Amino acid sequence: MQRRYAVVALSVALMLAIGVSVVVKTSALRPATVRLLPNDAKVLARGETVYRNRCTACHGQQLEGQPEWRTRGADGLLPAPPHDETGHTWHHADDLLFRITKYGVGAAINDVTYKSSMPAFESTLSDDEIVAVLSWIKSTWPASVRAHNDEINAPTKP
Ligand code: HEC
Repeated sequence: MQRRYAVVALSVALMLAIGVSVVVKTSALRPATVRLLPNDAKVLARGETVYRNRCTACHGQQLEGQPEWRTRGADGLLPAPPHDETGHTWHHADDLLFRITKYGVGAAINDVTYKSSMPAFESTLSDDEIVAVLSWIKSTWPASVRAHNDEINAPTKP
């Protein structure tokens, strides 16, 4: 009888340990859900500076991206897409945009084998800077595109 209790106690302890390690692992990669702040002037000023310093080389001065951005190059990699309304950045929820920018595309889509020239900014931009630059990008979209993106961000109705 006592042995059975010991087995039960051990399996509960094991399940707890596995549960805790899963939580630790996911929270390391996934901070609390991020919401962008496209109406906050202070955040936008900071975001534009980050964009001009860190993103224009690939995504362009006018957020126009690189030519033929839908076609992979000889190296098998995609060129940088535009961040204006002609691209598909606005098709993604705030949280996914944050994870792409912080961890890189492969980690954000859970495919570590995915190769991309989009850098992960985890060690070179703070979370606030990432939120700021993405907020600034969002602030440049026409009202209808922003409204559409807000819908994508809206919590799913029960
Ligand atoms: C060295 C070039 C390069 C730089 C610099 C760069 N990107 Fe990218 N970015 C890319 C490429 C290439 C892709 C397409 C990735 C893919 O799918 O392979 C991309 C994709 C993205 C996406 C996903 C867009 C979508 O529609 O799915 C986001 C968001 C993004 N970049 C944000 C940024 C931000 C913000 C910065 C500046 C802080 C930045 N990038 C700097 C090359 C770059």
